[in-house]
Amino acid sequence: MSDTATGILRAEHRLILEVASVLERALDTGEGDHDTLGDCIAFFRLFADACHHGKEEDLLFPALEDEGMPTDAGPIAVMLHEHRIGREFIRRMADALPRSGEGDSTAATEVADAGRGYIELIRAHIAKEDGVLFEMADGMVTGPACRDLCSAYDEGCARRFEGKTLQDLEDLAESLRGRYPAV
Ligand SMILES: [Fe+2]
Repeated sequence: MSDTATGILRAEHRLILEVASVLERALDTGEGDHDTLGDCIAFFRLFADACHHGKEEDLLFPALEDEGMPTDAGPIAVMLHEHRIGREFIRRMADALPRSGEGDSTAATEVADAGRGYIELIRAHIAKEDGVLFEMADGMVTGPACRDLCSAYDEGCARRFEGKTLQDLEDLAESLRGRYPAV
């Protein structure tokens, strides 16, 4: 268990950024690798959104609200807005991927455009969370509130995401990194 309010979330950011770079390399060099693109979409939908953004939206942000941070304005409102934009990019990729796999070049362009939009968004989003909101959170949620939050994170991690465990999703990230290693 992490001893700060954001330790586990920061570690998850690193994994999300690594898979974003896999997606970027797949879009750059793996034209037609629909299996990898589909696996990246599954990872972002289940790990980045359901698991990670779920912990932020259901646990961290309410804990910050308890400490007096507004949720309808300021950093939390911006983060929630960016989570919604990210979901839309992933939905567009998921919708277009099957048609792209059948040779539809317009759909292939849609997959690439939405994928690159997601990569740009998630990099800037994580930089803001790590550098601003999480710095604030680490100072605001301390002591017993921090311990409660971390045990709630652990409970959240123990559930399944469309049948997949957290370990399954981490293994998927490892597999993706192996397919498109950083040069
Ligand atoms: Fe995050």
